[in-house]
Amino acid sequence: MKKLLGSYGRDDEFRAVAEQIISEEEQKNNRVLARSLRKTLENAAAPKAGTRALAPLIPFPDAASDFVERVEPRLTKNDLILSAENVRVFLDLIREYRRADEIHRHGLSIRSKLLFCGPPGCGKTISAEVFAAEVGLPLFTVKLDRLISSYLGETATNVRKIFEFARTQPCVLFLDEFDALARARDDASDHHELRRVVNSLLLFIDRIRPKGFLIAATNLDGSLDPAVWRRFDEVVWFDRPDRAATGRYLKLKFRNAKLAFDPSAHLDALADYTYAELERICLGAIKSSIIDRRKEVRERDFTRSLADELRRRQRAGRLNQTA
Ligand SMILES: Nc1ncnc2c1ncn2[C@@H]1O[C@H](COP(=O)(O)OP(=O)(O)O)[C@@H](O)[C@H]1O
Ligand SMILES: [Mg+2]
Repeated sequence: MKKLLGSYGRDDEFRAVAEQIISEEEQKNNRVLARSLRKTLENAAAPKAGTRALAPLIPFPDAASDFVERVEPRLTKNDLILSAENVRVFLDLIREYRRADEIHRHGLSIRSKLLFCGPPGCGKTISAEVFAAEVGLPLFTVKLDRLISSYLGETATNVRKIFEFARTQPCVLFLDEFDALARARDDASDHHELRRVVNSLLLFIDRIRPKGFLIAATNLDGSLDPAVWRRFDEVVWFDRPDRAATGRYLKLKFRNAKLAFDPSAHLDALADYTYAELERICLGAIKSSIIDRRKEVRERDFTRSLADELRRRQRAGRLNQTA
């Protein structure tokens, strides 16, 4: 056990010690335990595409578990469409991170605090997941709305614990729906306790040099308060897909479907949709073909699904106007 803990951070050694423990259990005839340990080790150590390091062994502080969640990436970079600009930004960030030791030795720091901006449904959340997987770090998502609404009592302490964790453990700390914080700041003027939490969060963001990355995501656009974004080392913009990206995304979503039509003939009608909306359109079309027990997705499945999405949009638009 001592050896196992001593090997923390060195994957090969960790694996060797773990193997040793398993074979000792096998020799002691504890077959069920040995098998279950082996399975756990295989799952934990199987390097996913592009990932290198093992997840850290130190658990996230328990007290924070109400508003922090360990997230397993659902998608890989093959599922993600990025603009050429963002591909470059991310590749640079990854290369910088891999050379962090050398950069630090020269007295320089690496960019580790990122702000993702853009309309909903354009890939901020999944990019945080894919990015964490690519740099081989575990992802912890902070549910800011929950954190802020539970501001009484221990929240300030828990905030401190979260940031202490991210300062010492290599991980990606993801503040999704960061807008909640900006909104809370506006609401906080006459609420002492809330103001304290919001301010301490902003202060922590200012001061932290994360061991891995801190990523915040916001739907706010150009009107983003400079006081917010100057806290970050890099701002990454996620836009709605252009025509070419829409074409690529349709191919991606239909890659496992048999099509009886050419979806790229509909690119004009699909201008200005978000990825999330395009996804619903494609999946809706595929679902119709399944319901009808057809082997092929027909053009009519697609145009109907598109009409559904359009209706949904118009409804949502009306709701927003009245809100
Ligand atoms: N750039 C993208 N490439 C591929 N799929 C995307 C992209 N953006 C969004 N999606 C799809 O839309 C869904 C919602 O995206 P998400 O990352 O949650 O958006 P955001 O966080 O910007 O609101 C994702 O689960 C994914 O299926
Ligand atoms: Mg999101």
